[in-house]
Amino acid sequence: MDILEYHRRTRHRPDAYARGPESIDWDAQPNPFRNYVSPDQAGRSAAQIPLPLAATADEKRWYELWQAPPATPLQPDIDRLAAVLELSLALSACKQAGAARWSLRVNPSSGNLHPTECYVVACNIGGLEDGIYHYRADTHALEQRCRFREKSTGHEPVLWLGFSSVHWREAWKYGERAYRYCQLDSGHALAAVSYAAAVTGFAAGQLVVQDVTDQALAGLLGIARHDDFIISGGAQAERENADCLLSLSGRQGLDYILCQARQGDWYGRANILDSRHFYDWPLIEDAARCSSRNQIEDSAVVCYPQRPPPRRPSGLLAGSSAAQLIRQRRSAQQFDPAGSMRADDFFTLLDHCLPRPDYPPWNSLQAAADIHLFIFVHNVDGLESGLYALLREPSVKETLMAATRSQFIWQTVPQAPQGLMFFQLLKAAARRTAANLSCQQAIAGDSAFSLAMLADMQAVAGQPWLYRQRFWQAGAIGQVLYLDAEAAGLRGTGIGCYYDEFVHDLLGLQDERWQVLYHFTVGKPLTDPRITSWSPYQERRGK
Ligand SMILES: Cc1cc2nc3c(=O)[nH]c(=O)nc-3n(C[C@H](O)[C@H](O)[C@H](O)COP(=O)(O)O)c2cc1C
Repeated sequence: MDILEYHRRTRHRPDAYARGPESIDWDAQPNPFRNYVSPDQAGRSAAQIPLPLAATADEKRWYELWQAPPATPLQPDIDRLAAVLELSLALSACKQAGAARWSLRVNPSSGNLHPTECYVVACNIGGLEDGIYHYRADTHALEQRCRFREKSTGHEPVLWLGFSSVHWREAWKYGERAYRYCQLDSGHALAAVSYAAAVTGFAAGQLVVQDVTDQALAGLLGIARHDDFIISGGAQAERENADCLLSLSGRQGLDYILCQARQGDWYGRANILDSRHFYDWPLIEDAARCSSRNQIEDSAVVCYPQRPPPRRPSGLLAGSSAAQLIRQRRSAQQFDPAGSMRADDFFTLLDHCLPRPDYPPWNSLQAAADIHLFIFVHNVDGLESGLYALLREPSVKETLMAATRSQFIWQTVPQAPQGLMFFQLLKAAARRTAANLSCQQAIAGDSAFSLAMLADMQAVAGQPWLYRQRFWQAGAIGQVLYLDAEAAGLRGTGIGCYYDEFVHDLLGLQDERWQVLYHFTVGKPLTDPRITSWSPYQERRGK
């Protein structure tokens, strides 16, 4: 099997959804929180290091993120790291409806199942011993997995965040399509860290630590340590797959750090997340195998076209604290179809979807211009209802015009900012079509606009790991839409359930070069008064 075959096999159609469980035991949902509290074979568990809460970040306004990035990054220390994690991966709300209680996080996740795990690699960072740590969102704490034996005085400060996915968390509910959702969630998490880094004054340049294979990354993060995932009696804790490594500080010395991790002292054993796996989805592990990054290619330098600086947001909440906006992000579950979006907010949001490597979230990805947006405008001030396209890379226009329906008019839109590759394709009331394409979900039709993200998959056959990278790009676009919607006083929702072939048919696509990877919707949310909400970590805050 190759990875594009996985993609074909996990398309949804109204009469044939991708294979998934026939029934779900809601009470047996996998534990969304990993920990390494249990002692390992040597009887040692991972030390728990509580991180400070409500750290330094509240000063910056949202619109300030779009001004020139800071020239000198701040010195990294444990407090700044805590602030980045609190504003990207921590819990952000606790909810209750009837007897049901659940927690939500700063980063969104398909089905709120949170397959993404995060590890911290620290070397010469104030307040942290040199080593590898696992981040626990449930307690906002680090668990020390590895202590380096050699003290690295003189080495430039290294503060890296490594990401991995527990596929079972998503597969439990979504079956074979879950691998896609794990990758989308990783993209959201990378982008969430990028925004948090910008808010807390970390470097604005490229965050990706290049040149790391999945195998090396798994070794670095400790997730390749087989025995640490075996529970006494022989049971297996769910394994994790390596995703990506981001740098908050320091880009050099990967070989040195890998060597330190190999020779370091490791602590703790992973917990079991689900004691009974009723289903088995071997296709997911096949997909992971055939899209793994086994070698480092000569990295082609990615050159983005020169763009003007990003548009400064002027929406309802653009002057709010950036940290507050990030914390309040939520997925809307219902929209008011009468709620419109200001054209200025709409075009600012589209502008922020364009890759600019010095601005969040685009510094968290090495390449980010392979996805283009096909947008159903339902209720944006001054724009006719219909189908539009935003091209995120200008050179693709001819190719996409040739690949899509000949009836599309590709007309420039006078209200659009100069230079934005935004085109009207079709005039039509499309609320029902948009909802139908998104597995009949009303949220795609009742909003101000909804969209499909179309990816260029041409390079994937030659470099299969790019399959994952395309989904990370889509997740990052999703994070832009979530946060810009909040800044406009509106709300967004990611949509992983859509009918792939119907979307391709609507656009007139004939070959497999272009594939839809993610849908999204933005509008005026309706809130459910039956759900009560409170802040997380209250016991830590002493309230
Ligand atoms: C990749 C992805 C796919 C999603 N797909 C859907 C969807 O098809 N329908 C839906 O109502 N919500 C969808 N959501 C929203 C999640 O259910 C939501 O993020 C989760 O419940 C957590 O809530 P929060 O976003 O408010 O933190 C999706 C979210 C993500 C990140």
